Amino acid sequence: MNVLVTGGAGFIGSHLVQRLVHDKHNVIVIDNLLRGNKIPAHVQDSITFVEGDVRDLNVVMNAMEGIDLVYHFAAVLGVDVVADFPVETMDVEVVGTRNVIESMHKHGVKKLFYASTSGIYSHSAIVKTALSEEVLVDPRTSYAMAKRYNEIYLASHFEEKGVDTIALRFFNVYGERQDNRMVIPRFLEQAEANLPLTVFGNGQQTRDFTYINDVIEACIRLQETKGFHIVNIANEHEWTIKELAETIIERTGSSSEIIYLDAPKKRYDYEVERRIGSSEKLYHLIGFKPSTTLQKGIEIILTQEEYSTNGHNSI
Ligand SMILES: NC(=O)c1ccc[n+]([C@@H]2O[C@H](COP(=O)([O-])OP(=O)(O)OC[C@H]3O[C@@H](n4cnc5c(N)ncnc54)[C@H](O)[C@@H]3O)[C@@H](O)[C@H]2O)c1
Repeated sequence: MNVLVTGGAGFIGSHLVQRLVHDKHNVIVIDNLLRGNKIPAHVQDSITFVEGDVRDLNVVMNAMEGIDLVYHFAAVLGVDVVADFPVETMDVEVVGTRNVIESMHKHGVKKLFYASTSGIYSHSAIVKTALSEEVLVDPRTSYAMAKRYNEIYLASHFEEKGVDTIALRFFNVYGERQDNRMVIPRFLEQAEANLPLTVFGNGQQTRDFTYINDVIEACIRLQETKGFHIVNIANEHEWTIKELAETIIERTGSSSEIIYLDAPKKRYDYEVERRIGSSEKLYHLIGFKPSTTLQKGIEIILTQEEYSTNGHNSI
């Protein structure tokens, strides 16, 4: 197939591109390189790379010609970045997604994956043991609000124009090549430098960490699914941030301490006490769900030669 990946130079996108090339697809990437290019050098030779912005309709329209399938992953993210640049965050989501869907209509492309987020659940009630796609969502930040808007927008396009769409609600994805906007690479970087691991709040807040290879496997297997679906991609395991920090110190053999800081005001809307997802719907659709434990995922990262953090603090 001819596959277009927006945001393909980013963390999740670059792993997806690598897998698509391995599976012998023709891959086109659109990325404005806001975060540099995480696609491994040997894979870069096998794809068509368009350096451009998804907010530019011409860029997206031109790249869409002859495409069979789109993964729309371009986004501005990272709590501090989004808090500092909420307008750009929303514009990239809303304008970028409109350009993608408009270009798909023009070129008769009928299948879309959209990267949504578990951030949409925010303070939603955890019913029974985990968040399922049916619970009442509670988007509060510019980022989560724009992601939720796009879920409804794309559901409407499916209803009116029949574009099969999977909106993927990713739960804290981590793995090789992720940069230190996110908590696991930040803790790894601090631990390896024997610096204190900085936790916001008391460290009792929980997250559900999903290993990148499991995420990519789900993205590939869902290709056969028809219709419109919102699907959690979660590991179904809850870790406190304190436990995460302790595990990273132990696995890296670091002499770091953990220090607890008051969260800066701009992070308040992102402070959620508990987050754990159910991947039952995913399993029902494709007979697969993430299973890599956090210990195993961290071990894999630490043994990868290419492991390095290369985050940027501004956009
Ligand atoms: N990493 C996670 O835990 C997580 C969780 C939930 C949702 N998501 C979503 O998954 C997708 C991929 O996330 P990621 O972790 O790989 O992030 P990332 O920042 O590594 O990748 C995003 C990519 O989008 C590109 N980009 C940003 N603005 C652009 C624009 N205007 N035009 C073209 N390209 C642009 C960036 O250069 C970057 O390469 C995003 O949509 C994100 O919102 C990620």
